[in-house]
Formats: sequence, C-alpha cells, structure tokens
Amino acid sequence: MAKEKLYIFDTTLRDGEQTPGVNLTVEEKVQIAKQLERLGVDVIEAGFAVSSPADFEAIRRIAREVKNSTVCSLARAVELDIRTAWDALKEGHRVRIHTFIATSDIHLKYKLRMSRDEALKRAVEAVKLIQDVSEGKAEVEFSAEDAGRTDLKYLFEVIEAVIEAGAKVVNIPDTVGYAVPDEWYERILAIKENVPNIDRAIISVHCHNDLGLATANSLVAVKAGARQVECTINGIGERAGNAAMEEIVMAIKVRSDQFPVYTEIDTTQIYKTSQLVSRLTGVMISRTKPIVGDNAFAHESGIHQHGVLACRETYEIMKPEDIGLKESKIVLGKHSGRHAFKKKLEEMGVELSEEQFEEAFKKFKELASRKKEIYDVDIELLIENLEGAK
Ligand code: KIV
Ligand code: ZN
Repeated sequence: MAKEKLYIFDTTLRDGEQTPGVNLTVEEKVQIAKQLERLGVDVIEAGFAVSSPADFEAIRRIAREVKNSTVCSLARAVELDIRTAWDALKEGHRVRIHTFIATSDIHLKYKLRMSRDEALKRAVEAVKLIQDVSEGKAEVEFSAEDAGRTDLKYLFEVIEAVIEAGAKVVNIPDTVGYAVPDEWYERILAIKENVPNIDRAIISVHCHNDLGLATANSLVAVKAGARQVECTINGIGERAGNAAMEEIVMAIKVRSDQFPVYTEIDTTQIYKTSQLVSRLTGVMISRTKPIVGDNAFAHESGIHQHGVLACRETYEIMKPEDIGLKESKIVLGKHSGRHAFKKKLEEMGVELSEEQFEEAFKKFKELASRKKEIYDVDIELLIENLEGAK
C-alpha cells in the first residue's frame, strides 16, 4: 500500500521555549526557524503572539522570512489572542493559527471554571473567528488541551463540532504526559472510528514526556491514523519536555517496515539543528540521548569495536551520515581491544613492529584501567616511550 505523508509540526520555538530557564531573542528564534526550514519541517510554531511583544515580533519576522514551511502562532480560544496572532502572521506566505481550549473535567472545573457546553461553544467560535479575521487565509488547527484525560464521548463531540466549524487539523494533546502506548493507540483509533466527519481533517498528536513515553505514544498514534505529530528538537519543552523530533523521524525512517507513512525531513540536517538548538537555548544534550547524544554513534567495548570495524551494521542500526555526522566514534577505553587500538595507530600514522605493538597494547590497557577515555595525546606519550617506534 502506498505510504501517506506524516506532517512534522515543530514547536521548539513555542512549547520548547517553555522549558524552564530558556529565553530566546528574536534573532535567535529567526536563526532556528531558518534551520528548521532547511531541515524540512512542515509547520513551525513560532510562538504565542499575544504572550509578549518579543514573541509577536519573532512570529512576524519568521512568517515573512520563511517560505517553505507553514508558520504558526498559538492562540487561546479568545478573541484578543486570535486577532493578535493574525496581526503577527498576516504578511506570511503560508500561515496557521493554532487555537486551543481545555476539555478535561479537571481543567474545566479548576482552571477555566466553565461547563463542557461552554467550552465546546468557545471552541467553535474560535475556529470560526480565525476564518473571519483572516478572510480564510490562515489554516485552522484546533487543540483539545488535556485530551488524554478528557471524557471520550465529549471529546468526540468537540472534535466533530470544530471540524464542522472549519478546523482542518484536530490536535489531540497528552498535555501532562499521562498516556501509555496501548491506551493512547486506542484513544486515537476511537477518534478515527467515532467522529463522523473525521476524514475532513488531519488528526494530530502532541505528546509530553513526563513518563518517558512521548516518542512511543507519538508512534502508536501514527499507527492508529494520526498524520501530524507535534514535537521539538532534542525533546525540549515544559517539565520533562515534548516528543523529540529526531527520535520520531529516525524511527519512521529506520523502521519504515513498521509504519504506513513517510516524512519529508532532510535527516542529514538533524545533527546541525540539534546542536544549534542546544547552543542557543543552553539546554545540554545528554550523552546517551538517542540519535543526537555524544554517545549515540560511539563504540567503546572491544567486542563492539571489532564488529563495527568489520561491518558497521553489526552494532549500528543507522548510519551517522544519515543525521549529518561524518563517522561513528571508536572510543578507546578499558573495554577496547586490539582491533580498535591498531586502527587508531594506523589513523595516527604510527608504525610498530609486532613486538612493539604488543608492548604498546599492554601499556594502553594499563592506562585505560586508570583513565576513563584515552585521547590521541595519551597514545603519543605512550609510543614515545617505546624503543625504536616512529
Ligand atoms: O501540551 C499542550 O496541551 C499544549 C497545547 C497548547 C497544544 O501545548
Ligand atoms: Zn504542550
């Protein structure tokens, strides 16, 4: 069966910027947006226009300067938010307003102090207002905030009503990262099967990572019928963050046998984008972070190094080149063996007799048992003390 396109909606500049301690300048946001455009994301959520003059300006600049991705602003289901979002976006090439209202009973009761009927009415009014204010020029996305904890029958009603009102993308957020994969799959499938006009809109998901399940939940949602995923670079975002774009995209690429979709992401831009976002936000990337962490393509144990040197696929399920890295890293440490050590000497242009090699290897193992990582300079020193080595 022909694969369908999965739209990648990047919210690094909105939900990602909600990471505690992160505050990007307008220039930095524009720089990241241009890199996201090179990466090939379909939608860039550039900010929340009404939240600050700086967000407004960043959205305005990005909408004007980015041509190949849709540029989006968040807006509560409130007239001022929607009008401000449109003011920021109106000079853009392809633009979207993403409006939202909470639908779970806990949010309705304690946050909005609103009944279910009132929230539904506000959702419909917001969707219509976007079309009126923008004269149909802005795409309309609607999110049912805390959809993961919303009564399912009421959620169906809200989704049907906003589609009737003109929403083209209906986003189902797991706002608090509470969902687990089986249940989330069932919820998305239930929406697909029970909302009468669901085929007139794209189902989107927006998963948070409080239980470390954001990527898994996004992927099962795709299996259930979602055709847009909302995510951030390096998984940054509120609390434990959002689903990480690089993980979703690479899972779909590496395990294309498992998914009915493809993305238009240029994966060779992933590493560069990840580094840029980390540098400008100041959020460090864990060494063991999948795809973009320092160790993601590093091999330390002798058995793994021997395998990878003979045939990369023995221990690598994707190529470093796929994400824009030059090569895998062979890290010399206490678990490394003769093959990796010999390869390192070759790279350094060191020639040793068999006897010298054995002596050097012994010294290397002694050093590695004391020192975590062995650098070229350590090996140079070690060789200098060998008789007759060049
Ligand atoms: O997590 C969430 O529910 C959100 C919405 C605004 C989509 O970020
Ligand atoms: Zn969110």
